[in-house]
Amino acid sequence: MKIYLAEHRGFCYGVKRAVDMALAAAETQQPAATLGPIIHNPQMVNRLKEQGIREADTLEDIPAGQVIIRSHGVGPEVYHQAKAKQLEIVDATCPHVKKAQQAAYSLLQAGYQVVIIGERRHPEVKSIFAWSDSTAQVVETPEEAREIPYFPRLGVVAQTTFAADDFNAIIAILQTKCDELQVERTICTATDLRQKAAVELAKKVDVMLVVGGKNSANTARLASVCHEAGCKAYHIESAIELKPEWISSVHSVGITAGASTPDWIIEEVYKKMEEMSIGEVVNVKTGNIVKG
Ligand code: F3S
Repeated sequence: MKIYLAEHRGFCYGVKRAVDMALAAAETQQPAATLGPIIHNPQMVNRLKEQGIREADTLEDIPAGQVIIRSHGVGPEVYHQAKAKQLEIVDATCPHVKKAQQAAYSLLQAGYQVVIIGERRHPEVKSIFAWSDSTAQVVETPEEAREIPYFPRLGVVAQTTFAADDFNAIIAILQTKCDELQVERTICTATDLRQKAAVELAKKVDVMLVVGGKNSANTARLASVCHEAGCKAYHIESAIELKPEWISSVHSVGITAGASTPDWIIEEVYKKMEEMSIGEVVNVKTGNIVKG
């Protein structure tokens, strides 16, 4: 059996940066807590807990020490409140998200009606919304875009992980809703690269394993693009969930992982696959036969 790893998989730049910042905070003498789960991956959250980084739902739960702001970012009022409580702010907001927040703020200041194209319940969209002084229109679908009223000037920002094609379809509609449209393309390429690499791999293997938190939207999306590409795909959080019958009669398996999945979890899945396989396993990363 051949095991292939998707070319782009696992931690994106912003998530890796946030986890590294949290780990660095754990090494200081000050207590530290993340505001919400640092990433959508329960195993990683547990590992951080072991290092002394706890998770707090609100600033009220953090009496002193460091508050770690996760990659999704927060609104301006959270910075004000944290400063008022004299907490040390470890700002792990992904720079791409920060750019979207600043774009929303600048558009608002310039007199545009801000539109955020994204999922309204996503924490990143909530943070961008807060930077628009909670005045933005949030649009998730072309249908919703058709429903927004006319505004003389619309200023658009995107949730960083929004699909580019869907974004363009919504922009085409918004163009008919105003006299002037200013578009800030704040989509980050990490999600797109992972989806394209997953589809490419799904087209050449018998089964795909998609590794990542069950609460990770981008991991779930990876599994669905593999299905759409005509490949059976299993979404697992860790190696424990692997079932021998999934791979007993296949010749090739592809592995991909969401942007919030650490490398060590992908490695564990890979190793478990090797153990479960009968016959030859070709590590496509190196071309070596690792088991005969
Ligand atoms: Fe940042 Fe893009 Fe990751 S916005 S958190 S690098 S998916």
